[in-house]
Amino acid sequence: MSDEIKLTPEQIAARDPSYSFQELLDRERVPVPEALRESTDTYLGSEDLPIERWTSREFFEREVEKVWRKTWQMTCRESQLRNPGDYFVYDIVDDSIVITRTEAGELRAFHNSCLHRGRVLKRGAGQSPELRCPFHGWSWNLEGEFQGAPCDWDFPHVRAEEFKLPQVRVATWGGWVFINMDQQGPDLPEYMGVLPQHLARWKHEQRYVSAHIEKVIGANWKTVLEAFIESYHAIATHPQLMPFQAIDNSQYDVWGDHVSRTITAYGVPNPSDAHRFSEQESLDAMMKLAGSEERPQVEPGQTAREKLAEISLPVVNEQAGEDLSGQATMSELMDSTLYLLFPNFAPWAGHHTIINYRHRPNGNDVDSSIMDIYLLTRYPEGSEPPPDAATCSLGIDEPFKDAAHILGPGLANVFDQDGANLPQVQKGLKASKKGAITLSNYQEVRIRHFHQTLDKYLQS
Ligand code: FES
Ligand SMILES: [Fe+2]
Repeated sequence: MSDEIKLTPEQIAARDPSYSFQELLDRERVPVPEALRESTDTYLGSEDLPIERWTSREFFEREVEKVWRKTWQMTCRESQLRNPGDYFVYDIVDDSIVITRTEAGELRAFHNSCLHRGRVLKRGAGQSPELRCPFHGWSWNLEGEFQGAPCDWDFPHVRAEEFKLPQVRVATWGGWVFINMDQQGPDLPEYMGVLPQHLARWKHEQRYVSAHIEKVIGANWKTVLEAFIESYHAIATHPQLMPFQAIDNSQYDVWGDHVSRTITAYGVPNPSDAHRFSEQESLDAMMKLAGSEERPQVEPGQTAREKLAEISLPVVNEQAGEDLSGQATMSELMDSTLYLLFPNFAPWAGHHTIINYRHRPNGNDVDSSIMDIYLLTRYPEGSEPPPDAATCSLGIDEPFKDAAHILGPGLANVFDQDGANLPQVQKGLKASKKGAITLSNYQEVRIRHFHQTLDKYLQS
C-alpha cells in the first residue's frame, strides 16, 4: 500500500460487522473488570514494512546493541531462585547473565564472564555458595565481591575492590525475574506501563509452572512472535478452532511503547462461521480440543459459553483455593487474553491456567529462534506451591507433538500448525520480490506497534 492512499475515517474504523468483544462482555452476569473494559481502538498507519527487518544480519546486530542490551527481559520464575545460593543463567545472543540469590535474600545479576581470562562462571541453573570459575579457580561471593585467586602472589596488580563482577539490573514482577543490561532508563514498574495494574487481579505471583516447553523454530524471533500477537491467521491455519473461538472480532489494544493485547473469546463460534455450528457443536469442539472424553450437554436456553464457564469455575476454585463465583466473568474463565511486554514476553490474563510465551533469537542466528511456552496454574494462598514442571526442550526438527503428553494433543496440534508455517514464512520472506510486507489496519495493529517501538530503540 503506498503512502498516497488516503483512507477514510470509516475505513480506519472498520471492524468485523458482527458483535464486538465489548458487546459480549455486556452479557456477563457479574461485574466486568476495568482492564477488560478498556478498548484502545488504535490506528497506527497502513504503510508496508521492509523485509530486511526479519532477514538482515546488519538489522539483527542493531537489535543486539539497541534492544537486547537496552530492555527489560524476562529470564525465569522467581521459584528457580528461591534460596540463598540459587543461581540461574540467562543467555541472550552472545550475552550471558548469571542471577543469584544472596545470603541476605536479595537478587543480584552479573555479566557471566570471569574477570581473569573470560570463561563463563556458571551454566544452566543450580545451587552454589559462591561463583567460582572452573578454569583457574578465581571466586566471587553471591554479591559479586572478589574473594581471591590461587597463587595470589602472582597477581599483585589485582585489587579486590576493582574486581567486583559488573552488575546488571534485576527486578521481579508477578513471580517472574527480569534483567536489563542498560544501567540507564526506566525501572521495571515504569517500563511495564499499564501491565502490572491490568494483570494484578490474575495473580501471576500466586502460580506455579505446570508445564514448560522450549522449542527451536526455524524462523527469526520476530517472525514467530508476530504469529502469536494476532488471531487473524487462525482462520486459515487453525480451522478446527472456528466452532468455538471468535477470531474475526478479536479485540486488539496497544498502550504506550511496551504493552499490547489481544482478546479472543472462547465458547462462541467465529462470527463468519456461526451459521455452521450449534451451541452444542461449539462446546463439543472445545471439549475435543481440550482432550476431554466428556461431552457435557448445553441446556435449553443456555449458550456454550455459559456451559463452559459452569465447567471451568469449580476447576478454577479448586486451584485457587477460593470461591470465585460471583466474581469471575466468563471471559476470565476461558478466553485467551494475551498481552505483550516489549520486546519478547507475552503473559496471559485470566483465572484459569494461563499460557505465557517468550521469543528469543537462537544464539546469533538471524533465521531461527527459541520459543518458550509456560503454563501457569494458581495454587491456594498460604500453601506451599507445587513443584514447577521440568523444562521440555524440543529441537528444530522435533514437533510439539513430541510434547503432547504435556500440552495435550489438541494444543500440541495447534502449535504444530504454527510451527509448520513459520519456517515457510522465513523462507518466503527471503524469496520476496515485493521486498515488503503489508499489514491490516486493526487485526495486525500490534505488529505495527511492535515495529514502531523497535524503531524508537534502534534510532536511540
Ligand atoms: S578464566 Fe576464570 S579463573 Fe581463569
Ligand atoms: Fe497460531
